[in-house]
Amino acid sequence: MGVRREETRTLNEKSNLVLIGFMGTGKSSVGRSLARKLDMQLVDTDQEVESATGLTVPEIFRRYGEVRFRSEESLIVKKISRYENCVIATGGGVVLNEENLTELKRNGCLVCLRSRPEIIKSRVQRKPRPLLARDNSLENIQRMLQERERFYEKAELVVETSDDPLEKVVDEIADWFALRRSRQVRVDTDGGAYDIFIGQSLLSSLGTLMVERVKGKRCLLVSNPRVSELYAERVRSSLEKSGFKVTDGLVPDGEEYKSLKSAEQLYDAAVEAGLDRDSAVVALGGGVIGDLAGFIAATYLRGISLVQVPTTLLAQVDSSVGGKVAVNHPQGKNLIGAFHQPRLVVCDTDVLNTLDPREMRSGMAEVIKYGVIWDSGLFEHLERVLQAEPGMSPTDLIPIITRCCEIKADIVGRDEREHGVRTLLNLGHTLGHALEGETGYQVFRHGEAVAVGMAAAGRLAVSTGRWSEPEQDRLLKLLEAAGLPIRTEGIPSGGLMAWMERDKKAQGGRVRWVLPLSVGRAEVVPSLPDELVEPVIREFVR
Ligand code: NAD
Ligand code: GLY
Repeated sequence: MGVRREETRTLNEKSNLVLIGFMGTGKSSVGRSLARKLDMQLVDTDQEVESATGLTVPEIFRRYGEVRFRSEESLIVKKISRYENCVIATGGGVVLNEENLTELKRNGCLVCLRSRPEIIKSRVQRKPRPLLARDNSLENIQRMLQERERFYEKAELVVETSDDPLEKVVDEIADWFALRRSRQVRVDTDGGAYDIFIGQSLLSSLGTLMVERVKGKRCLLVSNPRVSELYAERVRSSLEKSGFKVTDGLVPDGEEYKSLKSAEQLYDAAVEAGLDRDSAVVALGGGVIGDLAGFIAATYLRGISLVQVPTTLLAQVDSSVGGKVAVNHPQGKNLIGAFHQPRLVVCDTDVLNTLDPREMRSGMAEVIKYGVIWDSGLFEHLERVLQAEPGMSPTDLIPIITRCCEIKADIVGRDEREHGVRTLLNLGHTLGHALEGETGYQVFRHGEAVAVGMAAAGRLAVSTGRWSEPEQDRLLKLLEAAGLPIRTEGIPSGGLMAWMERDKKAQGGRVRWVLPLSVGRAEVVPSLPDELVEPVIREFVR
């Protein structure tokens, strides 16, 4: 997809989770529960050896001895190390062979389970273990543990399983694995540097990630009833586990609530909760919640920490990153705002499973925008995948969301305050914002209005000789393949011109247009004559 990696630190894309550890530490039962929880397949090396040989492990030991068992085991390890998306529960002695470890680490993260010798002794009595058949004394277990210690140390995570209930052990490993597998994009601006985490099942790691980045222990969790009902409990429990005191700040759902009135209510909640300079605002929701919560964080006590937990595709690829925070004024969108960079952005792609397909399509408009203005490889990738199948699963979207975040990080890193290149991110927004405003934010989702705006910007670029007909054709086809509108009807174009005029006043007397030059390149055009703009608007808004 032409992904540039300079801005990205991909911690790990290994897909298997490998459990190692002494017998009786719980590898099989933890493995079973983990596989269920993570929706992965469970592979147990002992069971694989048994089905490959048609003999039980004790039978192999009895008939052929340990050497034969180890060689069968190594063959199995070699085979299963190539599997994808599996929880692999290994036999206690797998680690004794260096080559086994190398194989397993190729596509797997090693987690060691550890228990006290007395606990192991009581557990192994329940099932015959060939290696302890002659001597299952505590001393023998201690001796073997000591011998194997240096192999078990090769794990990335060690989890004690003596006392905690199974569920707690499984949660700890699952949260660690989600973070370990996530992708990270670093954003570096004058207003602050921070990481974006992108991946599955990340909500439960929010507390852990915030502890490292937020000094205080109080936070205001801003959300709306719909998102809150789905995800606030998980977020709250993660924050509380990490010692945060959480106060809810609920705002009704809808663009019309991205207002000073909602802000006032949230200030009240912040004061009542005793939020201080070290506290944080956590935005759990789409772009509306992110912009509003960000505005509170930017202004309360002259600015406190902001953590973005975007729950729409649009917010994950665009609005949660880059620090633009705002509320609307009756006369125009985002007229009251600030630049306030978050401390952390956590994009859990699982939450996209509950998003309305229309909202997914709306987010896709911003994704296409990145392709047009910045990355022809992304544009071509979208042409391939969207034309084949419009709906993508949230997991398939991970590399695309990551790429969009990389592009946004690159752009805001160069121009945080929109004095230059950042303006390109407004492709389609000149007409888009006017369409949203003219229809009272009731007709279009943000991305839909931007899609019509991009189609019109493309036409203006063609008529000014910047962009070719075939390129305009590709753009329109891609927008349509994503299920987005490219024109609209029933909205008087006179009203739209008035919205753009007001925008003009807000921007020093000129309406800035962002026009594409070729796929992956665009430029800002400070103003265009009305004679050129009006017929184009009439073509796309009838
Ligand atoms: P939104 O925040 O209104 O969310 C869309 C709908 O989806 C809402 O009804 C919401 O309750 C629901 N929802 C959110 N997450 C959900 C989930 N996981 N499951 C089920 N339902 C869920 O709309 P949006 O498109 O995310 O954001 C649009 C806003 O973002 C606009 O106000 C726009 O101006 C702003 N924006 C800001 C920037 C920026 O840089 N700050 C960039 C682009 C857009
Ligand atoms: N979404 C436009 C920007 O962040 O600049």
